[in-house]
Amino acid sequence: MTAEISETTSMGEPFAAKTRSTGEAAQHPAGERAIPSYKPGRQRGILVIVRRSLVWLLTRQWLMRLLRTCWPIPRLFRYAMVTRYDDVAEVLSRPDVFKVPFAEEIARLNDIGENSSTPFILGIDDKEAHDRQLKRVMRAFRREDIAKVTALSRTSADNAISSSTACPSSKRRQIDAIRDLITRVPLEVCKKYYGVEIEEQQKFAYATMDVSGHLFGRPTVKPRPAIDKAAAYFRAVVDQAIDGEIKNPGNSDTVLERLVAMQKAPDNLTRNDIRAFLMGMIVGFVPTNTMAGGHILEMLLRKEKFMDAAREAAGAGDDDLLERTLFEAMRFMPHNPGPFRICSRDYTVAPGTSRAKTIKKESKVFVWTMSAMFDSHQVDRPREFNPHRPASDYMLLGYGMHWCVGAFIARVQIAQTFKALLAQPNLKRAGKLQLRELFPDHLLVEFDPVKR
Ligand code: HEM
Repeated sequence: MTAEISETTSMGEPFAAKTRSTGEAAQHPAGERAIPSYKPGRQRGILVIVRRSLVWLLTRQWLMRLLRTCWPIPRLFRYAMVTRYDDVAEVLSRPDVFKVPFAEEIARLNDIGENSSTPFILGIDDKEAHDRQLKRVMRAFRREDIAKVTALSRTSADNAISSSTACPSSKRRQIDAIRDLITRVPLEVCKKYYGVEIEEQQKFAYATMDVSGHLFGRPTVKPRPAIDKAAAYFRAVVDQAIDGEIKNPGNSDTVLERLVAMQKAPDNLTRNDIRAFLMGMIVGFVPTNTMAGGHILEMLLRKEKFMDAAREAAGAGDDDLLERTLFEAMRFMPHNPGPFRICSRDYTVAPGTSRAKTIKKESKVFVWTMSAMFDSHQVDRPREFNPHRPASDYMLLGYGMHWCVGAFIARVQIAQTFKALLAQPNLKRAGKLQLRELFPDHLLVEFDPVKR
């Protein structure tokens, strides 16, 4: 049994001549940055089976319902769980008590190999420090960019679909909807909106997924050599983009250009801040939207009613309804069942109620957001598929201070990607959803060619 990502089971392409190992860095011409070695592997064996089984268990409706009714705040050894909507909301609203478990590790991975560590918002629980950084992030990633991200996502989704191939045994077309569409579109957005040039796209995506799976898995989040390699590679690609922008400033209003300009007052960003912002907003994006998009597609293919509703919204050109429909489908298979927190002092959840429980200092708390979204004390007819639910029924994008800052990008990127896919006539599954660790990796779909 191994907790490491195998270094030997390479499934990525052989290294391009440009890709050099860290040890060779000294031979580079001055100013040219080396990209360290990273071979995407696959975790195998018992650890993956255990992680997948846990996710399976934590997405069972019967278990959520049983616990919400009979044991809403289970505590066992140094673990605790909250299952009811109000208690989940309470825990996520108290970052002063319930701390994220990955703060130090995010900061360490941002600067790996350097004698420093730079925090990023999701790893900052101090409200003032968090909000200070959040404002700076939002000055680079602006809400008014939504039209740009929408257009970019749609164009790259259309391009991806036009690269679909003929089915071997029929006149239909086929595409690997994960690798060649759902992961590809976010990578294109990283390139054209963020301004981060990515040469080996799938390899880069895997590196971000390795980092994401490591950070947001079950605590304690401890350094692991294989993850350090993935993070070093990821970081070097981002560094290269920053170098390029500093040397040859572009003129296309990318996030990177804005961040470099923000080195001046009043923002006074350091170079490490720029890298941390980009790494955080990439690791929040590429792996998460792959997970979310893959799960949405799986739900649409499983449930005819969901697919019909999504097709109808896409066909009507109603982007808002399409977004709602896709996120409602995701409620039934969220990108994860919930985050973890570490309780920093003895704390009583749901005080004054019959279910009140004291969670002990240092307990690892599983905050079951999926269960909260099916809690009938708060959510009207939770098991019904209803794209017209109020926003308050959802915790897909978190709750409280750490609520997803990339929500506007997530929504339009997913909606535009599915709009392009759902426009294909007679869309059907042509294979099973295949995972790499917990992340969707392949899902073959086929459709009729569009008559011109
Ligand atoms: C459908 C796709 C997405 C889902 C389901 C999602 C979900 C979430 C959730 C649940 C949280 C809270 C985590 C916690 O409390 O521990 C969160 C926070 C965050 N997300 Fe997303 N996310 C998505 C897309 C994105 C995108 C596209 C970006 C970046 C462009 C992003 C960047 C972030 C960041 C930086 C935070 C931390 C915010 C803070 O601490 O203030 N996410 N996201």
